[in-house]
Amino acid sequence: MSGRLRLVLATRNTKKVPEMAAILAEAGVDAHVVGLDEHPGAPEVAETEPTFTGNALLKARAVAASTGLPAVADDSGLRVDALGGMPGVLSARWSGRFGDASGDKDLANLHLVLDQLADTPDERRGAEFVAAAALVVPGGEETAVEGVMRGSIIREPRGANGFGYDPVFVPEGGDRTTAEMAAEEKNAISHRGKAFRALAEEIRRIS
Ligand code: IMP
Repeated sequence: MSGRLRLVLATRNTKKVPEMAAILAEAGVDAHVVGLDEHPGAPEVAETEPTFTGNALLKARAVAASTGLPAVADDSGLRVDALGGMPGVLSARWSGRFGDASGDKDLANLHLVLDQLADTPDERRGAEFVAAAALVVPGGEETAVEGVMRGSIIREPRGANGFGYDPVFVPEGGDRTTAEMAAEEKNAISHRGKAFRALAEEIRRIS
């Protein structure tokens, strides 16, 4: 590729665009990152795959095909050891409530996991956040990477930052939840931070 790389991030979450742009800049990639707000015609893709990587590739392929530009997509969730790796790809809809982007859904999901683990002793409350990030170049390369953050599920929510299951997740080696951390602190160790940084290396290779 020559000239400044223009990348579409397959998200309507405007916070993810500057996050990705900063990670690319740190990796030495000169790219202009835009979100789907600049490509409103791009399709809304259902996350139908059984894996995070499958879903990230599905979304990146659809956006690359519709925009004609290299596209990046991510998919993430929580895997709880005592639940056999669930909620996994069902993390966003674990409590069965669809189409509600408010914090209520996050809260219902989090309380369902706490209830399910009510009788699980501390030593078996291990869990991990996982994120897959995929890059699809129209008519060309496809690549996907994963990032993992290990930790455990506590018994009562703590902290007001972040989203989703953050108030009940304590990363390994620490004693605060990811909802008690500043965004930069979480990004430095998080599944998504790791996946985006690994993808930035791949993007640097092809740019
Ligand atoms: P998606 O990648 O936007 O589909 O998010 C999947 C779901 O996984 C979210 O709705 C959250 O419930 C959960 N999740 C993913 N990453 C995080 C995180 O960093 N903190 C808390 N919850 C997360």
